[in-house]
Amino acid sequence: MTRTLKLWLKRLQFRTPLRNQMVHRYEYFFWPAELAFLCELLEQSIRDGGIVLEVGCAQGATTLFFNNHITWAQRNKGLRDDVAYVCLDTFSGFPREHSLYEQQHRGKTTATYKDYQINSPDWFKYMLKLNGVTRTSVHQGDAAKFDYAGLGSIGFCLLDVDLYLPTQAALPRIYEQMRPGGIIVVDDCLPEQDYDGARQAYLEFMSSLGREPEIHHRKFGIVRKPAQETAP
Ligand SMILES: C[S@@+](CC[C@H](N)C(=O)[O-])C[C@H]1O[C@@H](n2cnc3c(N)ncnc32)[C@H](O)[C@@H]1O
Repeated sequence: MTRTLKLWLKRLQFRTPLRNQMVHRYEYFFWPAELAFLCELLEQSIRDGGIVLEVGCAQGATTLFFNNHITWAQRNKGLRDDVAYVCLDTFSGFPREHSLYEQQHRGKTTATYKDYQINSPDWFKYMLKLNGVTRTSVHQGDAAKFDYAGLGSIGFCLLDVDLYLPTQAALPRIYEQMRPGGIIVVDDCLPEQDYDGARQAYLEFMSSLGREPEIHHRKFGIVRKPAQETAP
């Protein structure tokens, strides 16, 4: 296609509602400083071993950002090159029983929890392929029921499923599979908002471990598996 034809097609597109698809938008769920903080944790965890797990990956904005950071760190900082990155999502939004629980038991009567329903594992895999990401495997399933034991030892996990029930069910299962020194980051630990179920589950889990909460950037709940696990 000639440059002139491309230009006219773009100009035409800009006159339609499809213009939103052609201009660049910031589509990350995290601020730049938050992404930088997560990259530091991610890199350190990879140095110490284990797989990377992202639970709740939506369209893959953070998946791609993290994978690019891993590639950059491999090329420039000698990070190991055998990192496995595992993604898990329903790819159809929140399971109904989880959103109903928020509405009926956590007083979130005005929230609909209908986000993220338009997605597909095939689209996600295609996005990875288009961006040349080959270290990532994609699983479709419910975070509350997934068999984490089959993944092997986990070094870093971003748990980003927002609501109480999946976070509460997934946290102990993922923790069980973390290698000593591994780190789980629970997103959405900000209080008093429609997605504060994750915060409640995080606080309860830390309490069950007999530990103080460690919240960074006001929203990231951190769980560190001790290098040497001690009896509670
Ligand atoms: C906030 S988005 C994740 C954003 C992503 N981590 C990023 O930074 O780009 C939440 C995702 O969690 C998924 N999700 C919600 N409940 C889930 C569950 N029980 N099991 C698996 N995925 C779930 C949704 O489908 C959605 O894609």
